[in-house]
Amino acid sequence: MNKERKLIIAGNWKMNKTVAEALDLAAGLKLELANVKEVDIVVCPPYTALSEVSKAILDSNIRLGAQNMSEHNVGAYTGEIAAVMLKEFSVRYVILGHSERRQYQQESDALIARKALAVHRAALKPIVCIGETLAEREAGQTEQVLSTQVRGSLAELDKEQMVETVVAYEPVWAIGTGKTASPAQAQEAHAFIRRVLAGMFDETVARKVRIQYGGSVKPANARELMSLPDVDGALVGGAALEARSFTDIIKNSI
Ligand code: PGA
Repeated sequence: MNKERKLIIAGNWKMNKTVAEALDLAAGLKLELANVKEVDIVVCPPYTALSEVSKAILDSNIRLGAQNMSEHNVGAYTGEIAAVMLKEFSVRYVILGHSERRQYQQESDALIARKALAVHRAALKPIVCIGETLAEREAGQTEQVLSTQVRGSLAELDKEQMVETVVAYEPVWAIGTGKTASPAQAQEAHAFIRRVLAGMFDETVARKVRIQYGGSVKPANARELMSLPDVDGALVGGAALEARSFTDIIKNSI
């Protein structure tokens, strides 16, 4: 597949996998994906498995991501994890503002914006998630919601940082539901997000930013979604928990 931007496909393992299970999955992926050069591949295990998975994928083409990070560098923040701790395990990417965190931990655009800046200051790359709910889509508010989230969550970044940021468009109604956005819905949302980025930064920045689609991505729909002009990768939940399906998503996207 000849794309303007290199595809980036990330597996978000969420709160799944013990260390032993994570190692099994990592070993399977390392073997199956060894020859893939066309796609940037990222796995985001839970914190407790970062150390072991990091060792398991050493010298492979798979990069490590975390699922969240504190906006603070150090100190009295019980339960939080700082950038410097992630860097000990060669983490490269950090998912921020996933809709589950926006919903269950009340993460705001302003907080996500501060975290995105902290991620860049640590020389890591954020994957910033945005997406509308079903009620918002049905009320015709999709563009307004996406625009507010893009402007709010990326507010602290300069142009250089923005180019090194991945945006993940994940319609909340498509996450874990088996419902995927249609190719037309996905392309329309991605093109809109890119227009908002062009307004906030400039056309050159907007053209360089990779925008992933997330929400029930599977081997069967990956090819069509990844072929859309403004879709530059995927953030995969359920189908990333098994080596076979995550591998097939990647291979079907090439
Ligand atoms: P899903 O999750 O692939 O299970 O829909 C995607 C996500 O939440 O990142």
